[in-house]
Amino acid sequence: MQRKVLVTGGAGFIGCHLVDRLLAAGDEVVVLDDLSSGRAANLSPKAQLVRGDVLDNALVGSLLGGVDCVFHLAARVSVQLCISDWTGAHRVNLGGTIAVLQAAHQAGNIPVVYASSAAVYGNRSGAECRESDLPMPISPYAADKLAGEHQARAMAEVNGLPSVGLRFFNVYGPGQDAASPYAGVISKFCANRMADRPHTIFGDGRQSRDFIYVADVVDGLLRARDLVGKMPRAEVFNLCTGIETTLLDLVHAIDRVAGRGTSDIEHAPARSGDIRTSRGCPQAAGARLGFTARTDIGAGLGAFWAAL
Ligand code: NAD
Ligand code: UD1
Repeated sequence: MQRKVLVTGGAGFIGCHLVDRLLAAGDEVVVLDDLSSGRAANLSPKAQLVRGDVLDNALVGSLLGGVDCVFHLAARVSVQLCISDWTGAHRVNLGGTIAVLQAAHQAGNIPVVYASSAAVYGNRSGAECRESDLPMPISPYAADKLAGEHQARAMAEVNGLPSVGLRFFNVYGPGQDAASPYAGVISKFCANRMADRPHTIFGDGRQSRDFIYVADVVDGLLRARDLVGKMPRAEVFNLCTGIETTLLDLVHAIDRVAGRGTSDIEHAPARSGDIRTSRGCPQAAGARLGFTARTDIGAGLGAFWAAL
């Protein structure tokens, strides 16, 4: 049976991979995106693109007829840009999540799967991040993502709206924009390597991230959709590999995949709001969603490099 879904932020990096998988499964897909960082060209013509703002309650409501799940991915994604436009980012990142939750409730409690972030954990001094840990955001981006989770929980308590929040760790893969100075580190470093430019590392390069390949994240989103319709609660899970990689090791891994010798590195001061180490615990998503990240960093970088 064909199912209909709404994907906010569906013209963005993760969104268009999700849309492709939904279309391949035979779903009808409506995308709501203001194209502030996403691009219409990312989308298959089989998806219906509506250009607009997630904060427009009437517009979101008008798109929910016949929809059985909302994927809410729209956000301002760069930690640094959220610092430089604190209130503007707050408006989209928290206000947008509340607006989508409310519209989903008003339309008859349509289940919502939404993107949270590993950033909610803050600095954990090398410890593995578990969903039961007390989150300690150190950036406005992270504070808004955490507040979105609280809003989803409140919406479930008050109105019975089912939702699953997924704390994505650092996502990378084909289609990730490298052009912006605030782009994700893997897309920037691969573009640098391709153009034989030096990498700029903010800080000493010993900061780490749990890098997860975009196809695995899409797998997690689809598994969350299967769970969310079966329960009247708000739940939150990590989407991670459980393995951390320092930036210095990342540069070596990209060099191995590129096969063009050794990258030049320049160092610049560490960024404010930057997390030092990040490694997620994948256990809860494994147990409840049946989710495992299947792509190791070497394979994922190889696929990304081949697609450049
Ligand atoms: P992206 O910037 O490529 O996608 C975000 C999309 O949202 C874009 O298409 C943008 O145009 C759209 N958008 C922004 N504001 C909007 C608004 N007001 N109304 C409608 N559309 C709007 O980023 P992405 O990497 O694909 O991120 C998707 C989601 O995953 C975001 O919620 C992000 O916070 C979250 N996330 C991403 C990562 C990562 O490593 N990329 C990690 C953790 C969480
Ligand atoms: C990223 C996501 C954020 C997500 C979070 C989850 C982006 C743009 N941001 O944030 O949405 O919620 O993961 O953990 O995808 N760095 C350099 N040189 C560069 C670029 C980055 O040294 O040219 C460093 C940064 O200072 C940081 C690390 O690389 O220490 C990762 O940075 P970045 O890719 O921007 O991601 P996060 O800030 O972790």
